[in-house]
Amino acid sequence: MIADKRWKGVYSFEDSPFLMEILTELRNKHTGAIEFRKGLVKLGRYMGYELTKTMDFEKVEIETPLEKTEGIIAKDRKNVVIVTVLRAAIPLMEGLIKVFEHARVGIVSASRGKAPKFEIEMNYIKIPEIKPEDTVIIADPMIATGSTLLKVIEEVKKYGTPKRLIVLGVLAAPEGISRIKGAYPEVEVFVTKIDRELNDHGYILPGLGDAGDRAFGAP
Ligand code: URA
Repeated sequence: MIADKRWKGVYSFEDSPFLMEILTELRNKHTGAIEFRKGLVKLGRYMGYELTKTMDFEKVEIETPLEKTEGIIAKDRKNVVIVTVLRAAIPLMEGLIKVFEHARVGIVSASRGKAPKFEIEMNYIKIPEIKPEDTVIIADPMIATGSTLLKVIEEVKKYGTPKRLIVLGVLAAPEGISRIKGAYPEVEVFVTKIDRELNDHGYILPGLGDAGDRAFGAP
């Protein structure tokens, strides 16, 4: 996990050859929908695992069948709310929930209009109550302009103030991260990699194309 020097609380996993290999497969235009979805599930699972390393835990004393010893309880892992931004985040959430099996799950449907405005429509919002001890993970594979996430974060905040508010994605453009951190400095961002830039249509470059279309084989 690498802390990006441009912002506080922004991390990538460029130091992980395993995650970079999955990303390489996702980027490849010849990767079909089945393998693309599987790749997103894998990233959700292994990024979730990496995330646990940043979570608080408590020391406990237990007894093995032979003697007393110390162990830990990763309490924060059990207090997780995953907010899934439809539709590309569905496979990512499927992976995350393997690590955070107690998670309560929120669903948000947000779609982005065309350039130059990229207006966001939110058609469906179902978010559980958020408690002060919760870690909220907003799963959205592509942090492009940041417009969708700004709306989703605004919405999430109506349901409570969590201990940590995290955005977890596959790829991000610097523009999107700057907008999120500008509006919500407390939000932490974890992505596999931060790419170069956005093109005029709001796509991340070099990117991987439209994550939703590629995961579900339907534009
Ligand atoms: N959403 C995507 O799916 N891909 C991009 O490159 C940008 C936004």
